[in-house]
Order: sequence, then C-alpha cells, then structure tokens
Amino acid sequence: MLAVRVLLAALVATVQFARVLAWANDWEAGNNCTIQPLGEGLDDTDQIEGAIARCGHYGTTVISEGVYNVTRKMMWDLVESRVDLHGYLNFTANLPYWMNPENTYRVVYIQDQASWFVVTGRDFTIDAHNSGGIIGNGQYWWNWYGTTSRLDGDGRPIAFTLWRVLRGVVKDFRIEGQPFWCNTVAESQDVVYDGMYCNATNTNPEYYGHNVVPNTDGIDTFRADNVTMLNWDITLGDDCLAIKGNSTNIYAQNITCRGGNGIAFGSLGQYANLFDHVENVTLEDIRLLHIDPEIQPNMGSAVYFKSWSGTAIGHPPDNGGGGSGLVTNVTVRNAELYNVSLPIHVYQTNGAHPGDSLSTLQFADLSFYNFTGTSSGSTIVNLACSPAAPCPGMVFEDINITVTNGAEPHYVCSNVVSQQGLSNCSTTTP
Ligand SMILES: *[C@@H]1O[C@H](CO)[C@@H](O)[C@H](O)[C@H]1NC(C)=O
Ligand SMILES: *[C@@H]1O[C@H](CO)[C@@H](O)[C@H](O)[C@H]1NC(C)=O
Ligand SMILES: *[C@@H]1O[C@H](CO)[C@@H](O)[C@H](O)[C@H]1NC(C)=O
Ligand SMILES: *[C@@H]1O[C@H](CO)[C@@H](O)[C@H](O)[C@H]1NC(C)=O
Ligand SMILES: *[C@@H]1O[C@H](CO)[C@@H](O)[C@H](O)[C@H]1NC(C)=O
Ligand SMILES: *[C@@H]1O[C@H](CO)[C@@H](O)[C@H](O)[C@H]1NC(C)=O
Ligand SMILES: *[C@@H]1O[C@H](CO)[C@@H](O)[C@H](O)[C@H]1NC(C)=O
Ligand SMILES: *[C@@H]1O[C@H](CO)[C@@H](O)[C@H](O)[C@H]1NC(C)=O
Ligand SMILES: *[C@@H]1O[C@H](CO)[C@@H](O)[C@H](O)[C@H]1NC(C)=O
Ligand SMILES: *[C@@H]1O[C@H](CO)[C@@H](O)[C@H](O)[C@H]1NC(C)=O
Ligand SMILES: *[C@@H]1O[C@H](CO)[C@@H](O)[C@H](O)[C@H]1NC(C)=O
Ligand SMILES: *[C@@H]1O[C@H](CO)[C@@H](O)[C@H](O)[C@H]1NC(C)=O
Repeated sequence: MLAVRVLLAALVATVQFARVLAWANDWEAGNNCTIQPLGEGLDDTDQIEGAIARCGHYGTTVISEGVYNVTRKMMWDLVESRVDLHGYLNFTANLPYWMNPENTYRVVYIQDQASWFVVTGRDFTIDAHNSGGIIGNGQYWWNWYGTTSRLDGDGRPIAFTLWRVLRGVVKDFRIEGQPFWCNTVAESQDVVYDGMYCNATNTNPEYYGHNVVPNTDGIDTFRADNVTMLNWDITLGDDCLAIKGNSTNIYAQNITCRGGNGIAFGSLGQYANLFDHVENVTLEDIRLLHIDPEIQPNMGSAVYFKSWSGTAIGHPPDNGGGGSGLVTNVTVRNAELYNVSLPIHVYQTNGAHPGDSLSTLQFADLSFYNFTGTSSGSTIVNLACSPAAPCPGMVFEDINITVTNGAEPHYVCSNVVSQQGLSNCSTTTP
C-alpha cells in the first residue's frame, strides 16, 4: 500500500512538473533576445551564449549587424526557435589556443575532427540574411602551416558543425576564410541548407601557385539522412561536397565549386569495423570551375568516388582502410565544367600500397546526365572499380566534354559489370 502511495505521489509530482514545464514553454514562446556587438577589444562570447540560453528554446534571437568577437568554443542548443544572424561571429585568430584539444568539441566521429562552433537541437531556423555568418580568419591558419603537410584529426576546427539536428534550416549563411572544413552535418536528419557561401582564398603572394588551403571542404556529410543543399557557392582547395559514410537521401542543387578536388563520395571504407552505406543521392545544376591557378592550382573532378583499399594501413584519423560498404543510386544531372582535370572518376585504392587487399566496398547504379564544358585531361571518365566489387548499373547520357588541347577524349571502364551510354569505354587506362 505504501509503495502504491509513493508511486501515486511521484506520478502527481511528475504531472505537476510537466505542467510547470509547459507553462514555462508558453511563457518562453514570446521571448525575443536582441544583441549588438560590444565593440573593439571586448569579448562577445558571453552575451551570445546568454541570448541563446534565454531564447534558443521557443524564442527568437536576433544578432544584429556587426562583428562579434568569439574567443572560445560555443554550442547552441536550439528547440523550436529562430536565430536571425545579421552579423558575423569572428572566431579569434588565436591558433595555439584552438589547437589545444580542450578548446574545441570532438563531436564529429569521423576522423576525430574538431569543432569550435556546434549547433544541435530540433525544429529551428538560422537565417544569416546573406549579411552574416562566420569569420574563420583562415589566412592566419594557411600561413601558419604554409606548404607543410597536415593531418586529419589534428585539431584544426570545422567552421560550422550541425550535430544531432532534427529538422533544422540554415539560410543565406556566409563563411569567410574557413581554416579547415567549412561545414559538417553529422548524426542528423531532415536538414535544409538554402544559401551557403564559403571562401578559402589565399591572398599571401608567398604561396601563389600552391594549394595552401587543403582540407577546406565545403561540407562533409556523415551519418546524416535527408539533407538538402541549395544555392551554394564554395571557393576551396579540397572536396566541395564530401558525402561520407551513412549519408542517405541527399539532394544538392545549384552548387558552384571554385577550385579543389570536386564533389566527392568519400573517402569511404576508412574504418575497418564500419560499413559505409550511401544511398539516394541526387546532384543537380552543379558547376566546377577552375579559378586563377595562381590562387588555386587544382580543379580535380566534377564528381569522384573513392574508397580505401581492403587493407588497413595505420589507423584513423589519418590512415585507415579495410572497411566495406555500398554506394548506390546516385544521380548527377546538369554539370558545367571549366578546365577540370578528370571529370568522372572512381578509384578504390586510396592510401594503398602494391599488394594490399582489394576493396570490397561497392559502387552501384551511378547515373550521369548532361555534362558540358572543358577538361584539361583527355580521360573524361575513368571508372577503376575494385575487382573484388565490380560496378553494376553505370549510366551515361549526354556527356559532352571538350578536351582543352584538342586531344581525343578517352573513357575507361575497369571492373564494370554493366554500363550504358559510352560506346567506346575501354577496360584499360590509355
Ligand atoms: C519576437 O520576434 C518575432 C520575429 O521578429 C515577432 O514575430 C514576435 O512578435 C516577437 N515577439 C515579441 C514578444 O516581441
Ligand atoms: C576579443 O576579446 C579579447 C578579450 O577576451 C580581447 O583581448 C581581444 O582584443 C578582442 N578582439 C577583438 C578583435 O576585439
Ligand atoms: C576578427 O578578429 C581578428 C582577430 O582575432 C581581427 O584581426 C580581425 O580584424 C577581425 N575581423 C573583423 C572583420 O573584424
Ligand atoms: C526531408 O526533410 C524535409 C525538410 O525538413 C521534410 O520536409 C521532408 O518531409 C523530409 N522527408 C522525409 C521523407 O521525411
Ligand atoms: C573570395 O575571396 C577573394 C579574396 O577576398 C575574392 O577576391 C573573391 O572574389 C571571393 N570569391 C567569391 C566567389 O566571392
Ligand atoms: C544559385 O545560387 C546562387 C548562390 O550561390 C544564387 O545567387 C543564384 O541566384 C542561384 N540561382 C538560381 C537559378 O536560383
Ligand atoms: C551505417 O549503418 C549501418 C547500419 O545501421 C551500421 O552497421 C554501420 O556501422 C554504419 N556505419 C557508419 C559509418 O556509421
Ligand atoms: C533513387 O534516389 C532518388 C532520390 O535521390 C529517388 O527518387 C529514387 O526513387 C531512388 N531510386 C530507387 C530505386 O531507390
Ligand atoms: C531510397 O529511396 C527509395 C525510394 O524513395 C526508398 O524506398 C528507400 O527507402 C530509400 N533508401 C534509404 C536508405 O533511405
Ligand atoms: C544541361 O545542363 C546545362 C547546365 O549545365 C543547362 O543549361 C541545360 O539546360 C541542360 N540541358 C538539359 C536538356 O537539361
Ligand atoms: C587548366 O588546368 C590545368 C591543370 O590543372 C592547369 O595547369 C592550367 O593552369 C589551367 N588553366 C586555366 C586557364 O585555368
Ligand atoms: C558538344 O558540345 C560542343 C561544344 O559545346 C557542341 O558544339 C556540340 O554540338 C555538342 N555535341 C553534342 C552531341 O551535343
């Protein structure tokens, strides 16, 4: 009897607590927070966090025009709310500070990447009105490293991370000078990015002609379902979009990539214990443009697909391999190319040495329609699928790319089970 009474009392308390919570939510629903930059030499981090804490649930936060000094990592938890980011969050150019592992979040599992700004939660809109976003102070980072090589997972921060988001919208957002990846969406569902600008442009003459901005990807998607990317303009030195493991139902439209490696599916198969499943990806109206080679020497592919080999070499974050997976039902339609090196490329030997095991990760049902423009290399399509997982269902239609130097275009289909649309696809590289 006593037990029942205690249980009942607990139940009543719970119901009352729920009522209080509901009341608090109603009260908060009308909440608006508006902030202005504090000004030169002052730290805005506290007031930004304060506004999000007060209005990030069931409210509206207005971050007025201007530049905000952000001096430490920030995580916004947004629930049924809106943020109008009219101004720029300027993440200080204090590099040794950010490189201390304690000073960033490590919520992005893949390659153990670091984040200085994470947004999480559900049912929110962040609108930066094309007048706000993030200042990444990338030039300091690129100068710091110069042309020395850099490692994945070394702590360079992702500029803007969406993590564990359900139904989030990001609109008209600008990121100036991403030090590393510009965006990541991880462990998230039903996300829309409409209007994204990222610009990693080296302006230091010392590095002209070098790709001094490696890893400045436009976005990496990982463990993400139903992500829409519209109206992107990315200047970069690596993967414009990188579709990584367990990305499903991805739609990208009106995407301009200026420099870099192209749009990537991968790297995949980096973790020997994880199966990488990628399914239902549509890319439409994409532009891959070589920019001034003094500023950015690379413009690799329009789209490329890469897996590690079947042998694990070292360990992630930097090395890997041995992972399996399936990439299926990918459609790429309306691609405009300017001076890319190898328009369509599949290879499955990332990081491999001779004698390594073959990748068992399979690429299937990839379709390419309406590709126009120019290529600096004469191989237009190179499908180098793994003999251990040959590619079925490759479809090509209206692939009309001119080789810049007038050479005859080549098409390669190695370990391809079935292909339609290329009448002269050889099985060996010219
Ligand atoms: C809060 O801001 C929103 C959007 O600007 C507006 O629609 C709403 O009326 C405001 N609410 C209050 C209580 O001021
Ligand atoms: C940012 O705030 C710090 C104080 O924490 C200050 O030392 C620094 O000068 C400020 N930076 C800018 C650009 O205002
Ligand atoms: C951003 O902050 C850096 C210092 O961390 C400063 O040098 C730079 O001028 C600031 N940018 C703007 C646009 O205010
Ligand atoms: C995908 O996300 C969009 C935007 O949030 C949503 O409208 C749509 O219903 C979602 N699709 C599915 C199948 O859930
Ligand atoms: C990127 O930034 C550089 C340097 O500030 C600028 O010259 C260039 O026009 C920008 N690119 C785009 C597409 O806005
Ligand atoms: C494509 O996106 C760019 C921004 O990157 C935008 O300026 C342009 O209007 C968009 N084009 C169309 C047809 O919507
Ligand atoms: C992808 O999802 C499958 C099935 O849920 C799971 O077995 C696998 O480990 C996941 N892979 C990654 C990279 O999370
Ligand atoms: C392939 O993906 C598209 C969306 O990207 C979808 O409309 C279509 O139904 C999918 N096809 C199959 C066979 O699943
Ligand atoms: C791919 O799209 C098809 C058709 O819409 C759907 O039936 C299937 O569940 C989707 N696959 C995944 C992994 O969501
Ligand atoms: C082919 O793609 C180009 C843009 O790259 C577009 O202007 C054209 O309308 C597309 N053609 C068809 C038949 O869709
Ligand atoms: C075209 O691409 C090639 C190979 O990347 C490069 O050497 C050349 O400078 C580029 N030319 C132009 C005008 O972009
Ligand atoms: C291919 O493109 C060239 C140059 O843009 C054009 O002259 C030619 O008619 C196109 N061929 C086909 C089959 O579409």
